[in-house]
Amino acid sequence: MKEVVSLLFLVLLVSVSDADQVTKPNVGNFLECIRNRTSPENPITEALYTLNNSTFISSYESYTKKKMYSNPNYVKNLIAIVAAKHESHVQTTVICSKSNRIQIRIRSGGHDFEGLSYISSVPFVVLDMHDLRSITIDVPHKKAWVQSGATLGELYTKIADASKTLAFPAGVCPTVGVGGHFSGGGYGNLMRKYGISVDHVVDAQLVDANGKILNRSSMGEDLFWGIRGGGGASFGVILSWTINLVEVPETMTVFKVNKTLEQGATNVLFKWQLVSSSKLPRELFLRAMPQIVIGEKNGDKTIAVKFYAQFLGSAKKLMEIINKNLPELGLKREDCYEMSWINTTMFWEDYPFGTNTSVLLDRPTNPPSGFFKNKSDYVKKPIPKEGLEKIWKTMLKFNNVWMQWNPYGGVMDQIQANATAFPHRKGNLFKILYFALWSDANATDANLGLMKELYKVTEPYVSSNPREAYLNYRDIDVGSNPSDETNVDEAKIYGSKFFLGNLERLMEVKAKYDPENFFRYEQSIPPVRAM
Ligand SMILES: Cc1cc2nc3c(=O)[nH]c(=O)nc-3n(C[C@H](O)[C@H](O)[C@H](O)COP(=O)(O)OP(=O)(O)OC[C@H]3O[C@@H](n4cnc5c(N)ncnc54)[C@H](O)[C@@H]3O)c2cc1C
Ligand SMILES: *[C@@H]1O[C@H](CO)[C@@H](O)[C@H](O)[C@H]1NC(C)=O
Ligand SMILES: *[C@@H]1O[C@H](CO)[C@@H](O)[C@H](O)[C@H]1NC(C)=O
Ligand SMILES: *[C@@H]1O[C@H](CO)[C@@H](O)[C@H](O)[C@H]1NC(C)=O
Ligand SMILES: *[C@@H]1O[C@H](CO)[C@@H](O)[C@H](O)[C@H]1NC(C)=O
Ligand SMILES: *[C@@H]1O[C@H](CO)[C@@H](O)[C@H](O)[C@H]1NC(C)=O
Ligand SMILES: *[C@@H]1O[C@H](CO)[C@@H](O)[C@H](O)[C@H]1NC(C)=O
Ligand SMILES: *[C@@H]1O[C@H](CO)[C@@H](O)[C@H](O)[C@H]1NC(C)=O
Ligand SMILES: *[C@@H]1O[C@H](CO)[C@@H](O)[C@H](O)[C@H]1NC(C)=O
Ligand SMILES: *[C@@H]1O[C@H](CO)[C@@H](O)[C@H](O)[C@H]1NC(C)=O
Ligand SMILES: *[C@@H]1O[C@H](CO)[C@@H](O)[C@H](O)[C@H]1NC(C)=O
Repeated sequence: MKEVVSLLFLVLLVSVSDADQVTKPNVGNFLECIRNRTSPENPITEALYTLNNSTFISSYESYTKKKMYSNPNYVKNLIAIVAAKHESHVQTTVICSKSNRIQIRIRSGGHDFEGLSYISSVPFVVLDMHDLRSITIDVPHKKAWVQSGATLGELYTKIADASKTLAFPAGVCPTVGVGGHFSGGGYGNLMRKYGISVDHVVDAQLVDANGKILNRSSMGEDLFWGIRGGGGASFGVILSWTINLVEVPETMTVFKVNKTLEQGATNVLFKWQLVSSSKLPRELFLRAMPQIVIGEKNGDKTIAVKFYAQFLGSAKKLMEIINKNLPELGLKREDCYEMSWINTTMFWEDYPFGTNTSVLLDRPTNPPSGFFKNKSDYVKKPIPKEGLEKIWKTMLKFNNVWMQWNPYGGVMDQIQANATAFPHRKGNLFKILYFALWSDANATDANLGLMKELYKVTEPYVSSNPREAYLNYRDIDVGSNPSDETNVDEAKIYGSKFFLGNLERLMEVKAKYDPENFFRYEQSIPPVRAM
């Protein structure tokens, strides 16, 4: 193993004679570099916000989706925001940041759970992609081209406007940006039938560490492999994706049913583990969501498990499948609703029936209203009932906590773990998202402590060696580095959880395309060549 340190050393030696290169961040020079490179056709100065602009902070906060509890000085190191309006703005930002040793944080939808797309403990620039959001749909070829600043809601709407039977497998939340979402994997309720977003990405445009725009053929297959699941921000700035759309029936069926502990939730959920990934057809995605609710009888806290389902078929057929495989759910025909794919995206977001689908295009700019901590896990064998009961006991210590249990199986068992950089495939029963929410800053320590406790309680029941984690469910607890330094040993800790056996190849790809480690952040992939 040749470590990153020696590579960096070489690079520094080479660059001593280069007048543009400096070893310490040079803010003044950076701004001058940006302004010097502005062009009359596409002036970057109109995309540049500094402290002198009265809208600097509001521009920063409009895509800051998380109320920070761990980083009170998060704006302190922010030098500028470039809200790119043109591809050349991205190139210029990369070139000027690199030559002046200033870090960039790339932000598309701003949904990173830990805010890693907009915070740093060293001077940095936010490269904001939200204005680069064009979408083109090619119905005859079942393809689409989408810029990274587009949201899932915008993509879904454009697809549905163009066709009643095309769709795209990606996440549920309409305000998530495709820039971060696709590069980290991107899963949703079509996963068992069609896999995840990266399985349908067929080309990408990216600005590399030299400021060059590359596509699949000019970047090469190994880099193209890496940005499909390895996270974009370790490799470059993704400008756009070309994706294959998938076919769905004009009418699909959804339902929501819930069961409290008193109504036998534990038994139903135990049985759910035995059927949801292995027995149910891949056309059916049945998510379970254990959460705290206030009990009906005495107003005490209890647990309810909500089951949300989506079926690529009729209500009649769905009833047959559930009655055969999970009669304990007590599903009734009137729980089932037939609707179009675009309407299912509204259903998953709990919009009331009849809501105008234009809400999928909303880009709320109000600051986040609460504090959160999320974590993830992968489960490979059923959790015994005693285990479930231990989990409930710990959950009940929170004021507000819930989980999503997302069933695997179907095509996820058939796609090789190394087909893309996203490795969590065969052998999983389901993936867990943990989600704690509180509104009072004073409750932060208590909630973070409880989250650690819950993660400890589930340890015996989930994947181990390594305990796998989903990159897109960003969680700083699984390992992280300082903002400006990539320690390889530490990177291997979080890297092996996110990427399993794909880590080695990701490090090689990184070493080949970004040997100087310009694209680095707290959980980036280090440039390390195998000997
Ligand atoms: C409400 C909610 C629901 C979610 N639901 C799902 C779900 O159903 N399925 C799922 O898989 N995930 C889900 N997620 C997680 C989501 O996929 C990730 O948070 C994703 O990284 C968000 O992408 P973004 O562009 O909005 O985020 P950002 O915060 O902008 O970026 C996230 C990461 O990607 C990098 N990045 C962003 N844009 C680019 C780019 N153009 N080039 C290179 N790197 C880039 C950032 O630097 C950062 O490291 C959900 C998140 C939220 C908040
Ligand atoms: C900006 O342009 C001026 C005039 O050409 C030049 O003297 C200066 O060195 C440039 N600065 C940077 C940081 O590139
Ligand atoms: C920020 O202010 C400068 C002048 O100080 C102006 O040229 C620039 O266009 C402003 N940026 C934006 C994005 O409005
Ligand atoms: C802000 O404006 C002042 C006065 O014009 C100028 O001296 C300073 O360099 C500017 N700062 C930035 C960050 O652009
Ligand atoms: C945690 O996950 C939930 C559900 O996906 C999401 O609504 C919430 O925004 C996430 N938390 C953060 C900090 O993003
Ligand atoms: C990829 O880029 C190369 C070089 O710029 C170009 O010749 C080619 O047409 C591009 N391919 C696609 C699919 O856009
Ligand atoms: C369960 O579902 C019913 C019907 O949808 C709903 O009225 C009720 O509030 C739900 N209960 C819980 C605990 O979520
Ligand atoms: C989708 O929802 C809208 C608004 O509720 C409704 O008018 C429409 O009939 C629904 N269409 C289908 C096919 O489900
Ligand atoms: C939905 O909202 C859009 C935008 O606000 C509006 O143009 C459209 O008429 C609305 N559609 C319906 C059916 O109300
Ligand atoms: C993936 O792994 C298999 C063996 O498990 C190997 O044959 C194949 O070449 C690998 N594919 C890639 C793209 O590395
Ligand atoms: C939180 O703690 C601070 C300082 O101890 C106190 O002033 C404030 O009232 C508390 N807030 C709440 C909502 O309890």
